[in-house]
Amino acid sequence: MLVLRVAVVLALCACAASDRYHAEPPARAAAAPAPRQAELAKAYWYDEAQAAIEKRARRSAGKGKAKNIVFFLGDGMSIPTLAAARTLLGQRQGRTGEESELSFESFPSVGLSKTYCVNHQIADSACSATAYLCGVKNNYGTLGLTAAVARHDCEASLDASTHLESIAAWATQDGRDAGVVTNTRITHASPAGLYAKAANRNWERDEQVTAANVNISSCPDIAHQLIHHYPGNEFKVILGGGRREFYPNTIRDDEDSLGRRTDDRNLVEEWFEEKRSRNATYEYLWNRSQLKDALNNPPDYILGLFEDTHIPYHAEANNETEPTLAEMTELAIKTLQRNENGFFLFVESGRIDHAHHDNYVELALDETIRLSDAVTVATELLSEEDSLIVVTADHAHVMAFNGYTQRGGSIVGRSDYTGQDGVPYMTISYANGPGARAQTDGVRVDVTAEENFGDLRWRSHAEVPLSSETHGGDDVGVFARGPHHDLFTGVYEQSQLPHLMAYAGRFGPGAHACNAAPVLANTIAFTSLLVVLLAIQRFLCL
Ligand SMILES: *[C@@H]1O[C@H](CO)[C@@H](O)[C@H](O)[C@H]1NC(C)=O
Ligand SMILES: *[C@@H]1O[C@H](CO)[C@@H](O)[C@H](O)[C@H]1NC(C)=O
Ligand SMILES: *[C@@H]1O[C@H](CO)[C@@H](O)[C@H](O)[C@H]1NC(C)=O
Ligand SMILES: *[C@@H]1O[C@H](CO)[C@@H](O)[C@H](O)[C@H]1NC(C)=O
Ligand SMILES: [Zn+2]
Repeated sequence: MLVLRVAVVLALCACAASDRYHAEPPARAAAAPAPRQAELAKAYWYDEAQAAIEKRARRSAGKGKAKNIVFFLGDGMSIPTLAAARTLLGQRQGRTGEESELSFESFPSVGLSKTYCVNHQIADSACSATAYLCGVKNNYGTLGLTAAVARHDCEASLDASTHLESIAAWATQDGRDAGVVTNTRITHASPAGLYAKAANRNWERDEQVTAANVNISSCPDIAHQLIHHYPGNEFKVILGGGRREFYPNTIRDDEDSLGRRTDDRNLVEEWFEEKRSRNATYEYLWNRSQLKDALNNPPDYILGLFEDTHIPYHAEANNETEPTLAEMTELAIKTLQRNENGFFLFVESGRIDHAHHDNYVELALDETIRLSDAVTVATELLSEEDSLIVVTADHAHVMAFNGYTQRGGSIVGRSDYTGQDGVPYMTISYANGPGARAQTDGVRVDVTAEENFGDLRWRSHAEVPLSSETHGGDDVGVFARGPHHDLFTGVYEQSQLPHLMAYAGRFGPGAHACNAAPVLANTIAFTSLLVVLLAIQRFLCL
């Protein structure tokens, strides 16, 4: 009884500390097998990925080298979300819709990634970001650290053997430039996977670290890490939301919102100072027209923070102050393209996830269409010959696309059919979330009769009542175009993704990809073999 009460209290406390969309997990209800010890080490996931690449590379027809890599992430962009979003896109153009196509759906290679984390069947955006950016699976809610670190355990994260490097670090070590674009707070879990090591994704600013009784000099907040730690301090372009995590709570920003830092530090000023110390040119942006101006002649470094928290949904945004994801992507590519060694850019459409959590299906589908627009920009600016573009999701959601509606039926409308109870149901509904309606006298509510039915913030129906709809555990799609795109086919661990991208670009753990032959060079007897090997190497790599 006492144990149960303690567990309940713990679960409640944890909930209070989490963000609105992502509930903290309660204590496990029933004993389940623990993950294998081997999975706690970085080497396990590196070896898993490299072995898979070796197998796949043998039958790969891919050649060339990816000089530039743009990696797009639709947060929570499940496969049903893709089917529904393409249908909405077509219907907005006055067609039946189902035959429509998102920009990346015509990419030559498609695969599926398995998104579970070391200790969770269903991922959050922190453990999945660690997988798809650092190439290692880890624990739910943790960033840039192996699964040897439990959530909230700052102490354990001080052990250097738990530290992971992201593909952005691999790229800068190879002389490339790196950048990040998101429409969430730049310190939110997905973008933070690129530059932070944190035992808790919620440690976005100092106050959240100190409130958890954690020593902030040992475990600095995520905003601080972006500005002062490697590789964030090397990023040439940083575009997103979340200004409040960078300003002290005594300062009002350009849009009159108060900062939230309690350590009196102005990290935007500190970023300026750091760039000045490099004698570099730099610019800080907070609105759309500034972003448009910057396109003409970008400075060496750009920091754009367009909102105090997440950037609003595109369909609800003020188009004078908020840039679109496509516009941010354009500025990022034009800034990074100046490095002749190439670049790595991460672009997240992060609010698909938030809209799903609220059962706001039309907003989730619209945000997916905005990702498609951003990918179009990248395909127009970059050549298929030297630039790899990969599009995927971090995890699924529990949105269902159901019923037997006729061709061209509104994707956000009701099914042509009713339930056995004679009450209509929607073509899209959710397994759980805040859209659950209580039945009256055992009869389901006719949601189509509701006053705000069809509004952007009308909630789709959900079965299990929850304050926030949950992620799904199904696989997500991976779409690839450019050098070595065919490596991305098949069904594989999400943690293989950065290894595959680095292989295509021959850097980081992929640097060895085409360098095996010179080892034999000293042995005269192998000269003829070497010629053959070099020929193969040319075919595969150059
Ligand atoms: C916090 O950590 C720093 C360095 O890691 C250490 O010097 C300091 O003594 C710690 N403070 C406390 C209160 O433990
Ligand atoms: C910046 O410029 C100053 C003056 O021209 C020079 O003394 C300094 O070494 C430069 N610093 C860097 C990091 O290049
Ligand atoms: C901005 O939004 C307003 C109001 O919705 C609209 O009339 C206008 O065409 C939009 N402008 C641009 C450039 O998208
Ligand atoms: C954008 O920012 C610039 C510089 O602060 C300012 O002059 C301009 O009025 C802003 N534009 C809007 C639409 O707020
Ligand atoms: Zn989520």
